[in-house]
Amino acid sequence: MEARDRIVLALDVDSSEKALQLVDELKEHVGVYKIGMQLYNSAGPSIVQKVNELGGKVFVDLKFHDIPNTVGAAGRVMTRLGAFMFNVHAAGGKEMMMKASEEVKKEAGLLGVTPPKMLAVTVLTSISQQQLQEEMYVSDLSVGDLVKNWALMAKEAGMDGVVCSPQEIEVIKRSCGSDFLTVTPGIRPAWAATNDQKRFTTPSQAMAMGGDYMVIGRPITGAADPREAAIKIIKELEENK
Ligand code: C5P
Repeated sequence: MEARDRIVLALDVDSSEKALQLVDELKEHVGVYKIGMQLYNSAGPSIVQKVNELGGKVFVDLKFHDIPNTVGAAGRVMTRLGAFMFNVHAAGGKEMMMKASEEVKKEAGLLGVTPPKMLAVTVLTSISQQQLQEEMYVSDLSVGDLVKNWALMAKEAGMDGVVCSPQEIEVIKRSCGSDFLTVTPGIRPAWAATNDQKRFTTPSQAMAMGGDYMVIGRPITGAADPREAAIKIIKELEENK
């Protein structure tokens, strides 16, 4: 995969003007744009089509978690909208993921389009082992084992991959196979500020571990010259191929 297509720029802004300005500025160097709750809920679904019109692919990061029928319907909407990727919570269960996968494929078939890639979110990286035990009442599994088990379940349910921490890439690829996609935030080039990310990996380290897509926000959007920052990351990836 081209370095440009591995970078997923987090459009963590709250207006379509700011988002489209970033896409316009970076489209030569960044192939995929992540639209999360902040931008989607401020700008509305048409922001997906607008980014597409500028030539960017879109990862809709809304982490669906509901009954199978509702998530299946949301999957059809994502397909019609032209999302390149979207995600659901593995905690919603296997049946929910299977229904989403089924509905997406059906809708894509009807429309004659490529189905969006479906990703599962396993355990959020903000959840600690202690929270897992005390708040979610999971006492017999480590966070790592739960991540692995849920990744396997997601694969069996027809998901194309997972969103995970770079530290989890190797174990997921080992258990689910190298074709099972990993999309990782927590990426910091050596020259960038770490901000609030605590455990992070450089883009080339994530690629060396077998990672597919890298979600990067502030190292690019917060740089004095975002284009230059994106070009530097691409160079690093190409030099370490
Ligand atoms: O600016 P930064 O590169 O830290 O942005 C990372 C993006 O990935 C943000 O949109 C953030 O919400 C998201 N994310 C994350 N860590 C996770 C899951 C998602 O940073 N574990």
